[in-house]
Amino acid sequence: MQVPLLDLKAQYARIKNDVLAAIGEVLESQVCIGGPKVKELEDKIAQISNCKFAVGVSSGTDALLVSLMSLGIGGGDEVITTPFTFFATAGCIARVGAKPVFVDIDPATYNINPSLIRKAITKKTKVIMPVHLFGQIADMDPIMDIAKKHNLYVIEDAAQSISSTYKGKKAGSIGTCGCFSFFPSKNLGGIGDGGMVITNDEKLFHKLFIMRNHGSEPKYYHKFIGGNFRLDPIQAAALLVKLPYLDEWSQARRKNAEYYNKKFADTPVKTPYISSDCVTIYNQYVIRVPRRDEAAEHLKKKNIGCEVYYPVPLHLQECFSYLGFKKGDFPESEKAAKEVLALPVYPELTDRMKDCVVEAVLEALK
Ligand SMILES: Cc1ncc(COP(=O)(O)O)c(C=O)c1O
Repeated sequence: MQVPLLDLKAQYARIKNDVLAAIGEVLESQVCIGGPKVKELEDKIAQISNCKFAVGVSSGTDALLVSLMSLGIGGGDEVITTPFTFFATAGCIARVGAKPVFVDIDPATYNINPSLIRKAITKKTKVIMPVHLFGQIADMDPIMDIAKKHNLYVIEDAAQSISSTYKGKKAGSIGTCGCFSFFPSKNLGGIGDGGMVITNDEKLFHKLFIMRNHGSEPKYYHKFIGGNFRLDPIQAAALLVKLPYLDEWSQARRKNAEYYNKKFADTPVKTPYISSDCVTIYNQYVIRVPRRDEAAEHLKKKNIGCEVYYPVPLHLQECFSYLGFKKGDFPESEKAAKEVLALPVYPELTDRMKDCVVEAVLEALK
């Protein structure tokens, strides 16, 4: 049996008519930039995230970039983040001219270890950028305490964690602002690229709003240097169709995860640790296994989809060699990069499919 890592066709089959109708509406209106669909999506995402404001943008990457730009982060500034994340997190920091300062992860959650942050703070530190990896929010209370004490902004990279919670608070609503990605593989995925920034800070909201449109207000008068970071209304229309399913889909992912957890109990497979403070949305179900590369190879031979998120921690990426890091600097991130393996967890998986995944994983470990 073939089990892909993700099957977007299975999701699309259920909502096809509504998606096509919603796209048709945008086309008929010929409101091809901005407009009511973008505004409606912003209002709804702000609402489900318990946040006052939302600004739709062109991708999760641009959500991070425009947040940094709007907070005035640039040359000479330092931004603390994790090396165990997707490239965009640190890429954006470097793109505004700031220095990414890495802090190692908690090996249980894969999220930034708050107890190591204080040591990384200097006079140049302006922002802490925790990443809520795989669907679980980082330990935000100590992060917010440190930020308050040192007068730092907190930008939550919630690209993988929309609507997940930490002590009852929604992803993206805890820090200065929160950034979502609507990349198609996310729990709320578009039919192309898209993203959003949410915030409770009205001043920041206005700046984000202007910055996503070349920093102009009014039109053709540029107070700031922004960019074209606009969310496409066709993406907004498709996302509005999918949004009512988000909780159901995330719940189905949690059920699939529970199923795997039971099957992997008393085996060498290390299943995900979810803090009792958190409700995860399992954008990824990530196990740790010995001889990971061999296991991944075996799964692929058996037509079971799997992926390594992420094989190279960011401090060891060639493009960041100018930062002067070396192997061994962030041991938990480096260890995770060698051991993690994401398995299919998408909502439409059947028990039979999950059994095939489990069987292949356990076979690989023999
Ligand atoms: C943690 C994290 N940050 C940022 C991004 C960037 O989002 P996008 O692909 O929408 O630009 C992603 C997307 O994969 C991500 O996983």
